[in-house]
Amino acid sequence: MADLYGQSGDDKRPTEVPAIRWEEPPEGPVLVLLDQTRLPAEEVELVCTDASALVEAIGSLAVRGAPLLGIAGAYGVALAAARGFAVDEAADALAGARPTAVNLSVGVRRARDAYQAEVAKGGGPEQGARAALAAARQLHREDAEASTRMAQHGLALLGELLPGGGHRILTHCNTGALVSGGEGTAFAVALAAHRAGQLRRLWVDETRPLLQGARLTAYEAARRGMAYTLLTDNAAGSLFSAGEVDAVLIGADRIAADGSVANKVGSYPLAVLARYHHVPFIVVAPVTTVDPHTPDGASIEVEQRPGFEVTEMAAPQAPVSGAGGGIPVAPLGTQAYNPAFDVTPPELVTAIVTEEGVVSPVTADGLAELCARSGRA
Ligand code: MRU
Repeated sequence: MADLYGQSGDDKRPTEVPAIRWEEPPEGPVLVLLDQTRLPAEEVELVCTDASALVEAIGSLAVRGAPLLGIAGAYGVALAAARGFAVDEAADALAGARPTAVNLSVGVRRARDAYQAEVAKGGGPEQGARAALAAARQLHREDAEASTRMAQHGLALLGELLPGGGHRILTHCNTGALVSGGEGTAFAVALAAHRAGQLRRLWVDETRPLLQGARLTAYEAARRGMAYTLLTDNAAGSLFSAGEVDAVLIGADRIAADGSVANKVGSYPLAVLARYHHVPFIVVAPVTTVDPHTPDGASIEVEQRPGFEVTEMAAPQAPVSGAGGGIPVAPLGTQAYNPAFDVTPPELVTAIVTEEGVVSPVTADGLAELCARSGRA
């Protein structure tokens, strides 16, 4: 059934092909990615036969989003091992492909540790490769389960904070099935609200400069039959002042020990707006995104992206994050400030929702307790 915006009411699969999958054709194992730079125009697959192809895919954002980067990193180590490449070298290159999302290095470490433990036992590289693959598959499964539990906890929290239902939720960047082994993080909560008949509207920030909201979140929301509306990032203020936002739901790339949250650039201004307008600002992330080794927000390395992503618009149907060559929107030679993420201090975060439960208020002690409970030290 179509609603006012002409969207179908079906809850279809988020994409025709999964965001990531491992395959073993006769020519040797490969990691197949859905190339996210081509969405929403087309679902094109990218086949990685070695870790360096995966490093490139991570850099171009063909594969992206914190939980999926962790899964991809783990499979990347398994791929290097299975193809007989130097595992440590591949692991270092993968872990360093993007600096902010801690899940990437966590996933890489998990597969590398599994490989090394097997080899140390005298298992040999083939058994090491099998162990690394098993670790990657396990992480993939765990992320899917975490996603389901985050959605349950998040939906319950929305019910507590906003009794009466009919939620109008604002989200930023893309946090759905495209970034996860399951249905995602913040988006999975909005989807659960939709399925429970409690989502009145999903406000989707376009998410400049690479448009993860417009290209990816709107794509997933449309396929799910959710009532959604796209806005430019700088329209959010007027939406708040019109009283049209009941809650903000975002994901995270790294949560420091003090509760500071690094997420897609533009998240922090939303937190400030939310506080001013007395609207809950909720972060949804698996426990693997909490990094007890990063003490505070100032210690989080924020990735700086190339200026052309701001000074040019990608040509329609072309990869958004290519090596320039798009349509110029600024004079030639213009310098651009292009951080991929910003950091929201804990005092602006109403709650952090994880698969292990909700931390609110967001304090170092609350997060430390969560990490201890889940064995993430
Ligand atoms: O640069 P990206 O597209 O990888 O940034 C992704 C985000 O900022 C997401 O919000 C974050 O990874 C959380 S995804 C569950």
